Amino acid sequence: MQYGYFDDKNREYVITRPDTPLPWINYLGCQAYFGIISNTAGGYSFYRDARLRRITRYRYNNVPFDLGGRYIYVRDNETGDYWSPSWQPTRSDLEQYTCRHGMGYSIIGAKRRGILASTRYFVPLDENLEIWQFTVSNERQTPAALSVFSAIEFCLWDAQDDATNFQRNFSIGEVEIEDGVIYHKTEYRERRDHFAWFACSAELAGFDTQRDVFLGSTRGWDRPAAVERGESANSVAHGWAPIGSHHVRMVLQPGETRQILFVLGYHENPKDAKFDPPDSQIVNKKTAKPVITRYLIPANVDAAFQKLRTYWNGLLGICQVMTPDIHTDRMVNVWNAYQCMATFNMSRSASFYESGIGRGLGFRDSNQDLLGFVHMVPERARERILDLAATQLPSGGAYHQYQPLTKKGNNDVGGNFNDDPHWLIVGVAAYLKETGDWSILDEPVQYDNQPGSEQPLYEHLQRSFRYTLERLGPHGLPLIGRADWNDCLNLNCFSDTPGQSFQTTTNKEGKVAESVFIGGLFVLAAKELAGIARHSGHADEAPGYLAEGARMEETVRRHGWDGEWFLRAYDDFGNKVGSKECAEGKIFIEPQGFCILAGIGLDDGLARRALESVRKYLATPHGIVLQQPAYSRYYLHLGEISSYPPGYKENAGIFCHNNPWVIIAEAMTGNGDGAHDYYSRINPSAREGISDVHRCEPYVYAQMIAGRDAPTHGEAKNSWLTGTAAWNYYAIVQWILGIRPAYDGLQIAPSIPERWAGFRAVRRFRGVTYNITVRREGPGNGVKLTVDGQPVAGDVVVPPADGRGEVAVEAVLH
Ligand code: GLC
Ligand code: GLC
Repeated sequence: MQYGYFDDKNREYVITRPDTPLPWINYLGCQAYFGIISNTAGGYSFYRDARLRRITRYRYNNVPFDLGGRYIYVRDNETGDYWSPSWQPTRSDLEQYTCRHGMGYSIIGAKRRGILASTRYFVPLDENLEIWQFTVSNERQTPAALSVFSAIEFCLWDAQDDATNFQRNFSIGEVEIEDGVIYHKTEYRERRDHFAWFACSAELAGFDTQRDVFLGSTRGWDRPAAVERGESANSVAHGWAPIGSHHVRMVLQPGETRQILFVLGYHENPKDAKFDPPDSQIVNKKTAKPVITRYLIPANVDAAFQKLRTYWNGLLGICQVMTPDIHTDRMVNVWNAYQCMATFNMSRSASFYESGIGRGLGFRDSNQDLLGFVHMVPERARERILDLAATQLPSGGAYHQYQPLTKKGNNDVGGNFNDDPHWLIVGVAAYLKETGDWSILDEPVQYDNQPGSEQPLYEHLQRSFRYTLERLGPHGLPLIGRADWNDCLNLNCFSDTPGQSFQTTTNKEGKVAESVFIGGLFVLAAKELAGIARHSGHADEAPGYLAEGARMEETVRRHGWDGEWFLRAYDDFGNKVGSKECAEGKIFIEPQGFCILAGIGLDDGLARRALESVRKYLATPHGIVLQQPAYSRYYLHLGEISSYPPGYKENAGIFCHNNPWVIIAEAMTGNGDGAHDYYSRINPSAREGISDVHRCEPYVYAQMIAGRDAPTHGEAKNSWLTGTAAWNYYAIVQWILGIRPAYDGLQIAPSIPERWAGFRAVRRFRGVTYNITVRREGPGNGVKLTVDGQPVAGDVVVPPADGRGEVAVEAVLH
């Protein structure tokens, strides 16, 4: 069953009923001002950092959990009937509800009793504000006397404190109201130099800024007293809960349409110019006012919206494909790329499953996110790489997370996740292949954000590499530390007390437990680092990296192969994890995918053996589960992985992030059918028809789909912020379709299903547009290339020497 449909032409997903199984959300803003918006207008906004600069409030674990948002109420002033065009919060019966989630905007609207009302929400490029462009039409035969109320609830900035520290917070709220604009200035009197403002383009009949006056002390958002009454109270918040609500009255003639703009913004003042007059406590609005005025003019708002559309058309235009599969096309061309922007911006910080007050940007996560993002805005990828590298520790290890506002490593979590450093090599390699910008390697970057500790980025990569060499275990495999990619495989933790962190409680010295997964990752990193060295004037170092990689590859073959698949790890007792010898957790997905991705076993059949085992033991119709058999009870020596009931999350859930590793492995071994088959099993668009089972948005990936051991097999969870986005994008575009940036040019090496007659693609790469046609002549994946009609050897198209901006590439598969 479905709750909507894809409007491919407009790059929108159209939700046709408000009661989706979960809030189906979209992101507003893609630079510094961000918002989350659900299909019923729930959600919140923040500036740069969801924890430290929260603009509107979110109540955690609410029911339903997207309650609290960007609400508009429409009231019929003759009958007193009132309703919300986004269905929530009044949940009135609606005719014609639709929510269109598009690229950086959402349009939510409905009709009730002859009144059609809809709001387009978006954040203009290069501005720190969001626009609610509200349109209302009278489709009745008679004039309609209406009231329109806006409503948002301000957050007192630090979202964690806002949600907990009531004894203080109930006394600090402050606002100003000037010319109908509501200014939220809590804590501005002391150390803050920023405030929020909420403006309306229409003449006001009134306003409210004190929540309990607007709602009534015993009511919620579904029945605000002011709306019921049809009159604002012009309340001024002193303490308690500051809100912003405007009230506009109008009479619409039959057939008449009116537009009202509501604009919510964030503004910073210089520390020495906070007040106006300077010796007062009144917010200096001099630099905010021109912005407010500009966006209360409809023509400017329409122009800003067009600019946003053009921006997204440009970004998505960098890579467009036309294949025989609609689900591939719409994910690659629109939604998966779009999701990669969200994961780049948010990392794992703010969604409806990440509260915005927990994790900031993750070292491992953000490096991987680059794989799906770097081609879109390489300058921002560059900046991110340098920020990440600056949180690396002198040891080569890294802070596991950092806060986006301060860009400082998070001490509570610390480091010693022993896979972390290598993801920097993977991220930098992706950046270099895309851009050819070798200058990044010379950028001086601090360690642990310490001034004076600057070293070229290249040295950071070398330290990443050495980090593992200095931390090898009894079998010569990398020691696992707190965890590797699988945060929940905690082999040194032995946590027995409720509430302890599984990752950071460490009861073992950590000199025994080893990770085969990091072994694979190290082999890949060695190859990438050798490639980087060869192309950047360090060619003499390349053989050394390759030799270390080869040594590790040997170790993996010797101590990391279990007969039919790659082992997962050795635990603190030196026992195998992910082996046929184990009672539970005999086979894990991660080393199968990652060892092959690193090239291990491609030439001697181990890779095929491992992939057959994956198909036999781990594959389900809903995707590939993380391990089998699931752990049926808690194992002290394995940690969080065994804390989850079987089939969920890392305990044999379909952890979508690692499915693409197997997809890539299948593609590398030439099995295009197998690769695309796995790709389709978790492709959200391909699962749209089972939305009642899948439950999450059909336009973006979720972190997890419940595995076969779970009672809810097939149910997705934790949508949006997941490494799944970047990895699937990378798997389908670079490995199945085979359009792969390489140091010397654009490689074309598809591994597509045998039944596909071919496909077309347009890829802009280093300033050149490649018009690519792939045509199947034989059943295999061997490639014969012609570039502008001339046959070329190999499968790499080098950039045209004569500066042509466009080339035609034909690849014939035989
Ligand atoms: C989450 C984390 C990621 C980790 C994965 C597996 O997605 O964000 O860092 O690799 O879980 O545990
Ligand atoms: C939990 C989650 C895991 C995530 C980790 C982040 O362990 O299960 O997916 O990576 O938290 O700290």
